[in-house]
Amino acid sequence: MTEKPPYILAIETSCDDTSVALVNSCGFVKGLKRAHQNNRHQYFGGIVPEVASRAHTEVLIPMIEDLFLDTGVATSDIEGIAVTNRPGLIGSLLVGVVTAKTLALAWNKPIIGVNHLFGHIAANMLWDENIRPPHLFSQDSYPRLPWLVLLVSGGHTVLYWVEDCYQIFILGQTRDDAAGEAFDKFGKLLGLPFPGGPQVDYLARGWSGRLDSHKKSPFHIGEMPGYDFSFSGIKAAAERLIKGRSWWSDEEKMELAFYYQKAIVDSLLTKLKKASNELRPPSVMVTGGVSANSYFRDELNKLGGYLNTSILIPPLCYTTDNAAMVGLAGWWHWDKRTWVSQDSDAVRAFASSLADDFLSKHQSG
Ligand code: KG4
Ligand code: ZN
Repeated sequence: MTEKPPYILAIETSCDDTSVALVNSCGFVKGLKRAHQNNRHQYFGGIVPEVASRAHTEVLIPMIEDLFLDTGVATSDIEGIAVTNRPGLIGSLLVGVVTAKTLALAWNKPIIGVNHLFGHIAANMLWDENIRPPHLFSQDSYPRLPWLVLLVSGGHTVLYWVEDCYQIFILGQTRDDAAGEAFDKFGKLLGLPFPGGPQVDYLARGWSGRLDSHKKSPFHIGEMPGYDFSFSGIKAAAERLIKGRSWWSDEEKMELAFYYQKAIVDSLLTKLKKASNELRPPSVMVTGGVSANSYFRDELNKLGGYLNTSILIPPLCYTTDNAAMVGLAGWWHWDKRTWVSQDSDAVRAFASSLADDFLSKHQSG
């Protein structure tokens, strides 16, 4: 597949990561920049919305300038601007949307609002100079639809049935906490830096013990009906256990992290396996920040072998929030000509897009 200008300029500021990217319609990422705010929120032990919005305002414009400079792409080479406009922290979203609208007006380019969750789905089709996913040889060779998609992030845990870009059904979702949130809260209990997910992953990898089928795990997630999930129980169990003792050795913490991570991953795999067996989708994929988890990725490969299908997972760098995924999702809308004019309100703009009610309109099934 050849790299094909023009590009979309994509902007992502829905939560605590600022990111901008240039992506072409084949999902080729010409350039990607991202800035974390982890150290700013560290002190509070979680994301503070006002701090997040202010941090976006500080870095967004310089990042866009650097992106064009570093890639050598001219503004005349961009077809339009895609910006995440939902769901997320309203102040953070507004920083991205207002910036996108201003640039669209100045450059006379169209603008489109993209659902962040839809972006995570597109993350599986991204590639770049270093990463050429084996399943992507041409724009027409996307994995065969419908897709069974498990989205696991800091705010969402949802199993989708994707008929096409505009018909996306929720099969099941978490009834309380998201899986990423459960990781983060566990990290906080152990006094690890924010966000806890990658730290817990690292800690669990360090455990020198071996899984012993005779040994009972301290963590267990009860079976939820259908394709739903629940992670609040395990979080409460971890809190009781950890706060029940004043001191834990490093080795004990690693063991706890291993079993906690395993319980969450097992629960995700169980529902993915159930849906794969019952619905027989032509393609199965997992996405979202938690799909960066090393144990989860290993187990997904094993499950793929068992199901005799390859389960797609985004390249590691596209698992967590990034603007490249928003850019490709923007192109998918572009193909359907659902751009909106730059002077409309991009926060409302999605109402006119066919992908509008990605979250609310699609019935649970
Ligand atoms: O998709 P994402 O970047 O942001 C949201 O849209 O929420 O996901 C962030 C979540 C956080 O909860 C973070 O702790 C988790 O993904 N995460 C991980 C790992 N890397 C990120 N969880 C477990 N293991 C990881 N390696
Ligand atoms: Zn996300």
